[in-house]
Amino acid sequence: MLIYKKVLCRFPAMITRFTQLYIGLLVAIPCLATNGTMTKNLKVLVSSNDYPPTALKILEDHFTVLQSRYLNFGQEGSTLGREEILKLIPGCSALVWISNLPITNEILDAAGTQLKIVSTVSAGYNHCIPEELRARGMQLTNTPNVLSPAVAEVAVGLILSASRRFTENLDQVRRGEWEIGFDKVLGQDLRDSTVGIIGLGGIGQAVVKRLSGFDVARFIYSGHREKPEAKALRAEFVSQDTLLEQSDFIVAAVPLTNETKLMINKETLGKMKPNAVFVNVGRGDLVDQDALYDALKNKQIYAAGLDVTTPEPLPKDHKLLTLPNLFVLPHIGSATVRTRREMAELAANNIVNGLTGKPLLSPVKL
Ligand code: DGY
Repeated sequence: MLIYKKVLCRFPAMITRFTQLYIGLLVAIPCLATNGTMTKNLKVLVSSNDYPPTALKILEDHFTVLQSRYLNFGQEGSTLGREEILKLIPGCSALVWISNLPITNEILDAAGTQLKIVSTVSAGYNHCIPEELRARGMQLTNTPNVLSPAVAEVAVGLILSASRRFTENLDQVRRGEWEIGFDKVLGQDLRDSTVGIIGLGGIGQAVVKRLSGFDVARFIYSGHREKPEAKALRAEFVSQDTLLEQSDFIVAAVPLTNETKLMINKETLGKMKPNAVFVNVGRGDLVDQDALYDALKNKQIYAAGLDVTTPEPLPKDHKLLTLPNLFVLPHIGSATVRTRREMAELAANNIVNGLTGKPLLSPVKL
C-alpha cells in the first residue's frame, strides 16, 4: 500500500520527465538529420574553386565537401578542372555544377550510381544533359528566380545601349572624334513604343516591371500559353509572328531547348520592323548569328544588344564585333555580388534538402 502510494505521488513528476524526454527527442532527431551528424558520410563535390563561402558553409554543415582546386570555366575548366573533377567525383552523392561548360557522360560514369543530385548554379540547364540525368534516375536542380532582377537589369541596359548607339558613341569618345550636330547620333525612343518579350517567365516579367517607368505604350509577349502574371503587368499575349511584326523592342528571355534553338533566324529577323532593337539575355544559340549579322549590316533591323553569344567568349576578331549597331556584353546577366551569392546558396540548399529527404527547392522537371 505504501509502495503504491509512493508511486502514485511520483506519478506527475514521472509524466513531466517523460514529456521532457519526448520533446527532447523530437527536437534532437531532426537536428541530427539537419546539422549533419547523420549525413556527414555523404560526399558532395563542388566543381569550381570560386564558390561563395556562405554556400560552402551550408554544405559543410551537413556533408563531407570536396572542392575542385581549379576554376571550372574556360581553358582551366576544360583541362585541369575536368581532370580534377574526374578524380574527385567517384563516390559523391551530389554535384554542385558551377560552370557553363557541359556536364559529360564521362563525369557521370566516373561518379557512380550513388550520385543522386546535380545542382547547377544557373537558371539555364542546357549544358547539364538533362535527358541523360533522367535516364540515370538522377535529379537536377537549378537557380531560377533569384537571378531574374539582375538579368532584367542587364536586359534594360542592353535596350538602352543598343537603341542609343552606345557602341559607336563610345568609340567616338575613345577616338576623340565626336560626331557633332543637331541630327547626329540620334537613337530610338522607348517612350510610346511597343516592347515584345519572347518568354514571359521570371526574367521576362522582371524586364516588364523595370520598364514600367519608361512610358512604354504596350507590352506584348509570346510563349506556349498565357501567363496569369501578365494581367497585373498589362502585358498582352500574342502569337510570335505578331510580336515580331509589331514590336519596336524585342527581348528574348527563354531557355535554350530544341524548340528555341535558332528561333531568331533569317526568317524571323525578316519579320521585324526596320526600327526594331533586338536584345538577347537567354542563350547565344537562340540566334543564328550569321543571319543577325546580315540583318544589322544591311540595316534591316536597327540595332541589337547581346549578353549571350556563341561561342563565349566571342573571339575578338569575330565579324559581329565590327558592327557599330551591336552592343555586346560578356554574359554578365546574373553577375552581381548578391545574386551570385543567392544562386550559390539556393544550389546548396537544394542539395541539403535532396539528401535529407525533403522536397527540392527548385527542381528541374526532367
Ligand atoms: C543563368 O543562370 O542561366 C545565367 O545565364 C547565368 O548568368
